[in-house]
Amino acid sequence: MSFPPFFLRRFPKANLPSHLYLTQALSFLTYLFVIFMYETLKSLHLIFVISWFAGLFYLPRLFVYHASTEDRLGIERFKVMEHKLFNYIMTPAMILALGAGTWLWLGFGFEGGWLHLKLLLVVLLVIYHFFCYRFMILFAEELNPHSERFYRIFNEAPTLLLAGIVFLVVFKPF
Ligand code: HEM
Repeated sequence: MSFPPFFLRRFPKANLPSHLYLTQALSFLTYLFVIFMYETLKSLHLIFVISWFAGLFYLPRLFVYHASTEDRLGIERFKVMEHKLFNYIMTPAMILALGAGTWLWLGFGFEGGWLHLKLLLVVLLVIYHFFCYRFMILFAEELNPHSERFYRIFNEAPTLLLAGIVFLVVFKPF
């Protein structure tokens, strides 16, 4: 390969010995690798967050219909749907979303007030997740104490938290 390599010609350095060009090329490749890792991890973070939210939106909606169902077949069907959604989609997606987010945070050195506020909203989201778990268990034991209307209102919380988090990460206002 001729020196400087094609990707360094945009940054000409006068009379550098060839081994220094090699050092520059290596640091440039390292830089590309870090960017690639960051973009990949952020994409995975978003995929896991979307999967988690699919459940956070849908499970309380199932509760709305479950609370007003009286036939045995319908009740048993809701129990299975809720159990599978919570255990096989929502909880693994939550763990992966939080893991990828923490990796982005600590691995790439993000900081700032926006991140602290985002983490607070994420904690509220995790608490909401465990409220869903509690209601699912109560439904499974056929001890649900709440009305259909209660679950309709409960269903709005993740929308507000999602809006707060997305505006914070995109605008990073402080
Ligand atoms: C432990 C929890 C979490 C941590 C530590 C975390 C951390 C991060 C970090 C460091 C970034 C990169 C920011 C940037 O590239 O500018 C990010 C991106 C993002 N996070 Fe999280 N996150 C977490 C959970 C969540 C949750 C629950 C949501 C959704 C409600 C979410 C939504 C997003 C979005 C939409 C982006 C992309 C922002 C952009 O491209 O500008 N995160 N997160």
